[in-house]
Amino acid sequence: PELEDVLSKLDQEFWVPTEKLHSIVEHFIEEMEEGLSTGEPIPMNITWVHSLPTGDEKGTFLALDLGGTNLRVCKIDLQGNGGKHSIDQAKYKLPPELKTGNANELWNHVADALAQFMEEKKLGAEYHERNPVPLGFTFSYPATQDRIDHGVLQTWTKGFDIDGVEGHNAAAQLREAITARDLPIKLVALINDTVGAMVASAYSDPETIIGGIFGTGCNAAYMEDCKSIPKLKADLPRDSKMAINCEYGAFDNRHRVLPRTKYDEQIDEESPRPGEQTFEKLSAGLYLGEIFRLALVDLVERGLIFKDQDTAKLKKPYEIDTGFLSQIEDDESTHLTTTRDLFQSTLSLSPSEPEIELVRRLAEVIAMRGARLCACGVAAICKKKRIQKGHVAADGSVANKHPKFKKRWAEAMAEILGWEEGRMEDPIVLTSAEDGSGLGAAVIAAMELKRRGEA
Ligand code: BG6
Ligand code: GLC
Repeated sequence: PELEDVLSKLDQEFWVPTEKLHSIVEHFIEEMEEGLSTGEPIPMNITWVHSLPTGDEKGTFLALDLGGTNLRVCKIDLQGNGGKHSIDQAKYKLPPELKTGNANELWNHVADALAQFMEEKKLGAEYHERNPVPLGFTFSYPATQDRIDHGVLQTWTKGFDIDGVEGHNAAAQLREAITARDLPIKLVALINDTVGAMVASAYSDPETIIGGIFGTGCNAAYMEDCKSIPKLKADLPRDSKMAINCEYGAFDNRHRVLPRTKYDEQIDEESPRPGEQTFEKLSAGLYLGEIFRLALVDLVERGLIFKDQDTAKLKKPYEIDTGFLSQIEDDESTHLTTTRDLFQSTLSLSPSEPEIELVRRLAEVIAMRGARLCACGVAAICKKKRIQKGHVAADGSVANKHPKFKKRWAEAMAEILGWEEGRMEDPIVLTSAEDGSGLGAAVIAAMELKRRGEA
């Protein structure tokens, strides 16, 4: 009975009812508009990507992807003809200690990966000083851009805390490390993963309206009319468009509307940048497991669960990732034996039957809240732009690996946008842009070379 009370309290705390979704979306639209004027509280960053691709873009490019779980380098051949292409890629480790190191260590590591890739793929024969290979760099952090090959990091997000990059041009720092190694590479564009996902998808799918990342972080990009961007001071034709990287992980940093629990507050306080990325800390993959862990630790400390067991592993910050929650929700075994085994193998804990029920429910309510909040960001863009149908190109570990994310997201979208019951299909759907950022970076580099007359 005690555990049941606990459960219904958690249920209540994490449930986001339809009316709340509506007020979140209203606030979202206001903050997005403010961001287009002032860059705050949501950055709404200008990206200098002026159009979606036609599908005819061609050429060979390198793409470097830094920002999610992996560091990836790809060689991409764009063949045009409705978005035909081939990708040859390699993944490199991003050692965890790098995330709290300094700028030199970061860029040396990244440039080493580029050098290794050039060598492995024997690109040295074809590319040299007078014929460098063009590179699109996906840098998935908030950056202000004066041009497309420039990007001043505003603040690290997603737990990164590397000295000497905030306030500096990340493109220039990378360029320097490339030059120091005499690599025949020219950096043509710095892009965000959301813009990459949108452009990669649009290369072959003209229904694309938005690029959304539901992964370690949570963010989206869309095409805006330049006349609706008051902070844009460039002299551009009146009907020009601009891709906007919303950086809406920063939504509600003023704590006006999001339903934060004490666990969310704790995550924020213990993070490297307290007060930042409020929305992301409630909805993105980096944090879902940690919210779950903090809730369990709280129950342990109140003497409600895992009595007389060694909870040392459970007490380690970030010991549980979103994959753990996904596995729990995926568990269809009788008596939830998979979940039991998972607790045993990962945390050396043996939950009782009621405890198993509790952790299952907890995993559900946390992931459910995350998915419903994720719908608010996309719905806000759609409402603001009066978009009624289309494809949201989605990437990220939560969208791709959590078994129920897409369904919950779609249900919340229907509640917010009032889609009629019994409809044949949803007017706005998530489509997969898995590993799309690399392709997007190449297509953007191709568009940029063409614009400069260098293609
Ligand atoms: C990858 C993209 O597929 O997904 C990255 O190539 C992106 O650019 C990443 O940042 C997001 O997912 P996660 O889960 O790694 O944050
Ligand atoms: C964080 C980053 C943002 C990125 C998102 C998804 O929110 O600040 O740039 O798009 O994570 O990776």
